[in-house]
Amino acid sequence: MRLWKLSYISLAVAPHEEALRQAHEICLRSEDRNARIGISSVFTLHKGRFAQVMEGPETAVRALLARIKADPRHHSLTVLADGPLVARRYAGSSMKFCDPKAFVTEQLNDILAQTADIVRAMKTTWH
Ligand SMILES: Cc1cc2nc3c(=O)[nH]c(=O)nc-3n(C[C@H](O)[C@H](O)[C@H](O)COP(=O)(O)O)c2cc1C
Repeated sequence: MRLWKLSYISLAVAPHEEALRQAHEICLRSEDRNARIGISSVFTLHKGRFAQVMEGPETAVRALLARIKADPRHHSLTVLADGPLVARRYAGSSMKFCDPKAFVTEQLNDILAQTADIVRAMKTTWH
């Protein structure tokens, strides 16, 4: 089974306070569910947008995305990243709610780690 990563942003329907309450509720309910299907994930809410990164077996990621897309608490879901993954970045977090700054820091760390992987691979090829 291929390991897959998918990230998206979407527009929350409810105003901020209500959307924040929904985000916490979604996290609480998703922890066990995601763990059972092998999904690790980070999630945030910022300026009326939900953002989530999920990783796991490709079929589980696709099935979860379909379920999430149908959720009336948000709309205009836009997929940002959708591709195979060599190793999980969020192993151990089935559904971690981050504040927006921590979420961005996680993404930057992810990009830095990927860059380091690429540089290492290039060095191995060239030397
Ligand atoms: C922004 C957003 C993110 C969500 N993320 C997850 C998730 O990671 N895992 C999950 O099981 N449900 C997630 N949900 C909830 C699902 O959309 C759905 O309500 C839940 O899985 C129950 O599905 P069911 O009623 O078909 O059983 C999310 C909902 C929203 C609005």
